[in-house]
Amino acid sequence: MTIDDIQTIGVVGAGQMGRGIAQVLAITGWNVLLVDVTEEALENATRKIWQGVMKAVEKGALQGNQAGSAMARIQPLKQVKHVREAQMVIEAIPEDADMKRALFAQLGHLCEPSTLLASNTSSISITSLGTASGRPDRVVGIHFMNPVPVMRLVEVVRAAETSDDTLELALALVRRTGKTPVVCNDSPGFIVNRLLMPMINEAIFALEAGVATAEAIDLAMVEGTNAPMGPLALADRIGLDTVLAICEVIHHDLGDPKFRPCPLLRSYVEAGWLGKKSGHGFYLYEDKTAKVT
Ligand SMILES: NC(=O)c1ccc[n+]([C@@H]2O[C@H](COP(=O)([O-])OP(=O)(O)OC[C@H]3O[C@@H](n4cnc5c(N)ncnc54)[C@H](O)[C@@H]3O)[C@@H](O)[C@H]2O)c1
Repeated sequence: MTIDDIQTIGVVGAGQMGRGIAQVLAITGWNVLLVDVTEEALENATRKIWQGVMKAVEKGALQGNQAGSAMARIQPLKQVKHVREAQMVIEAIPEDADMKRALFAQLGHLCEPSTLLASNTSSISITSLGTASGRPDRVVGIHFMNPVPVMRLVEVVRAAETSDDTLELALALVRRTGKTPVVCNDSPGFIVNRLLMPMINEAIFALEAGVATAEAIDLAMVEGTNAPMGPLALADRIGLDTVLAICEVIHHDLGDPKFRPCPLLRSYVEAGWLGKKSGHGFYLYEDKTAKVT
């Protein structure tokens, strides 16, 4: 199989990552089968993708007439069985290893043996997803960054049994979207989250210890290190449930206490304060799409 044999790509999970991935793939020219278990997520995704596509038109990155055809290439669906039509599937459901393994087992039964199965996981073992699928040579990590339409990097993760052919197809897909692939081996948190999560987690420890306010911690990192946003605002944008899940995987899988998640992060998640998506995290948001207030 070559990249030109891929006409249709399934994206499973239409949350903030899945809808961004769907938008980028449709603008690049692929047909996208976008699956989510909730109607609300699919409606929200369609609205957000339309806004994203219109933004690309405003910026001159897309012609007006291309916007409609990109939207027409995306089919929102409630049942995963429909992705059997795709030559490749990218999974973007929550950062929960059991949930992902169950989905990969289902995809392994549903899809053609040649279909490539990719995960957008931030930290979970791609090797374990490959085993669950029953076709480990066709499984690879394709880890987009948030927000997907903006961020250039994509980590392409080679698991224990990922074939050279699968890796090459994943790299070709990323290059065709105009993004920059970086290959790494299957290790908890890969490159970016292994470095980023300890920084975010330490910012939460600093907040908990009363070192400074959330605003002061973020301002210090923005002005002092030229970061585009502070670690606490970034955590709110990623989703505090996702941050906690990633920290837990890195901590558990590497077995090193230096990666233990801050108890304050756990309390926020238990309270339902998930960041921007719930309207409340380290900052309050007037609505779920508002900027930090
Ligand atoms: N949020 C980030 O900044 C970020 C960045 C890179 C990678 N990731 C990874 O991407 C994945 C998704 O993260 P997100 O932030 O988009 O999460 P999210 O909570 O915004 O979206 C997840 C979506 O998956 C849906 N879902 C749950 N189970 C499903 C199933 N069995 N079939 C179909 N849909 C299902 C949910 O309804 C929800 O809409 C996670 O693995 C996460 O670690 C997240």
